[in-house]
Amino acid sequence: MRFGTLLLFALPLAAVAQRKPVAARVDSVLSLMTLPELVGQTNQYNGFWNATGPMPAGNEWVEQRVKALKQGGVGSVLNVAGVDQVRALQKVAVEETRLGIPLIFGLDVIHGYQTLSPIPLAEAASWDLEAIKRSARAAALEATADGINWTFAPMVDISRDPRWGRVMEGAGEDPYLGARIAEARVRGFQGDNLSDPTTLAACLKHFAGYGFPVSGKDYHTTDYSAHTLYNWILPPFEAGVKAGAATVMNAFSAANGIPATGDSALVWGELRRRMGFGGVLVSDWGSIGEMIPHGYARDLRDAADRALAAGCDIDMESDAYLRHGVELARSHPADSLRFREAARRILTLKFELGLMDDPYRYCRATKPDVRAEAYDMAVRSSVLLQNKGVLPIGSVLVGLTGPMAAEKNGVLGNWRVSAKDQSAQSLAEAVEGRCWTYAASAPHSVGQEAFHAELTLNAADTKANDAALKALRKHDVLVLAVGEHGYESGEGRSRASLRLSAVQQDLIRKAYKTGKPVVLVVYAGRPLVLEPWIQEGAAAILWAWQPGTLGGQAVVDVLCGKSEPYGRLPMTFPRSEGQIPIHYDAFSTGRPGPKSEVFWSHYTDESNAPAYPFGYGLSYTSFAYENLQVREAPGGWSATVTVRNTGARSGSDVVQLYVGREGNGQIYPVKSLKAFKRVVLEPGSSAAVELELPREALTQRDGQGRSIPFTHGTLRITVGPNSAEGLTWTTNLIP
Ligand code: BGC
Repeated sequence: MRFGTLLLFALPLAAVAQRKPVAARVDSVLSLMTLPELVGQTNQYNGFWNATGPMPAGNEWVEQRVKALKQGGVGSVLNVAGVDQVRALQKVAVEETRLGIPLIFGLDVIHGYQTLSPIPLAEAASWDLEAIKRSARAAALEATADGINWTFAPMVDISRDPRWGRVMEGAGEDPYLGARIAEARVRGFQGDNLSDPTTLAACLKHFAGYGFPVSGKDYHTTDYSAHTLYNWILPPFEAGVKAGAATVMNAFSAANGIPATGDSALVWGELRRRMGFGGVLVSDWGSIGEMIPHGYARDLRDAADRALAAGCDIDMESDAYLRHGVELARSHPADSLRFREAARRILTLKFELGLMDDPYRYCRATKPDVRAEAYDMAVRSSVLLQNKGVLPIGSVLVGLTGPMAAEKNGVLGNWRVSAKDQSAQSLAEAVEGRCWTYAASAPHSVGQEAFHAELTLNAADTKANDAALKALRKHDVLVLAVGEHGYESGEGRSRASLRLSAVQQDLIRKAYKTGKPVVLVVYAGRPLVLEPWIQEGAAAILWAWQPGTLGGQAVVDVLCGKSEPYGRLPMTFPRSEGQIPIHYDAFSTGRPGPKSEVFWSHYTDESNAPAYPFGYGLSYTSFAYENLQVREAPGGWSATVTVRNTGARSGSDVVQLYVGREGNGQIYPVKSLKAFKRVVLEPGSSAAVELELPREALTQRDGQGRSIPFTHGTLRITVGPNSAEGLTWTTNLIP
């Protein structure tokens, strides 16, 4: 058996070094490394070989990669999971390379590992930072037990465009909520100590602006102003960096004439200098190489050079650094230094993860049970959009149908690299034993369901819809589980129409015709557009998103009132696609309305109002907001509102504080969320809820990135249950 030189010859050194600070230990390793080995640390490959099997023979591509690995040309891998695989590959890195430097194992642990939580957008709908943190912690527990030590999450891209399929992976449209959730997720994944083998290094992605693709198409050019960059796009990154995120990922997209992976000003100016990020910056999959089709780089060598100059430490799957790095470093002293600094950051992470002391520390044998956390998050994420008194469902005969009712796959969500297919508990399974009858309706899709493939929808076959409704004709209430499959949102899955499919609309129309109360449970990875007839005809609408492994039970428990509907929308729901991008924190414009003549900012064929506003969600009880009082203190303002439970059940509401600002020499959004707090109230009881507004929360960055404090002008503080309702207090600040 061969041992890596670092382990064999440098052991005494390593033992001494263990008592030294990480920086000194990294220096010791760097001093042993050749230029190709430095470059090798910056190369990341996707899993390329069953490392537990025999050595590959005859497959040149695999052989090349194995050779690169053994020569120290691979610093980290992705999509290699499972204790046996991880151990086997790590053994090659540790025992068969000259220095024996271990690999980092990265994976997209986005909403769980094998046990899936609801999709991240659904988790954001909980507005429950502790629960979100627990969910990330649960994902880390499960994934690290299988050898993983780095997750490519959280995605902190703000987006106002539900056509963009990746909204499912983010926290929605608001930079304040997005920033708080970024912190919660980073803390949940990383815990207090990266070397704890139950924690994962987090990765804030995608830096930056990926959530603003022109026309909602994934990978498309992004278009945003400097003002949008500073005030919407960057704040969640900043919060995540402050929370200690170990890594950041470049975006695929290009803006201002430069692909993000080559954008030196953005990386060095904002991420490294202003935010003080000292961790590892990884490219997105192939995003260095993609600077060629972007039309930005001449060839792969040029792309490598530009990405390196723009601070990208790890090349994920472009093979650009490995192929051209040594040559670049030999011809440009600056590049040589850059590779050394990149390797320094990567090695630092390896020390922090504890891999340099024990390369196998993440390969635990025991599997934690995190089903309780997944159930809890699923209960907290669904949003009740409408209820004409039919929910919670009592002791009546319920007929359950709709293509999502027996779905065990689509409801898992999009990112489920390690979950078994068909592993969700379906709604139909969860209602077994109750007075519910399930009847299958027409299928939603036909053919293959796969992460890499486009889903083919059932476009016309509605026969089973009639049969299902006939089978349920004796039932008192109909529950229709409709919506999107998990493989209709996510990466590469933008949609131009956000309507329910024609076959589902057929089912809804026919169900309405029965005259029975119809409850729509909508499974979706994004806001959809529900036509007015669908909204009006529904006795209730519960937005269940894609609720994950335990979603079946969670949704039934909400429908039947064992749990209250807890979620509030983290994105505005449009009335029609033409309103997109739509978001609550828009500017007033010079021509706000409404006006009787046409010359104001509006549509002639659609209202400016959304279908459901940001922050919205009903409960099974009702709340009144009274007596808003605001106190000014040197550090800011403190707003107190009395919230009263005016209904007959206990319940909770998310009390939200928004500000409006005018007259300070900049334009500000009409409303911006600045604080929120959940209040739990018994029927008839009330509570005074206090929310703090620090003065610096009013600061806005201008188009040059300068922070402009709000010192004079009108300040409006609105406190209410969502972004469209509330009590308002106004003051004039005089400098
Ligand atoms: C995605 C990233 C992801 C990476 C690795 C890319 O296609 O954009 O978000 O982390 O693949 O799987």
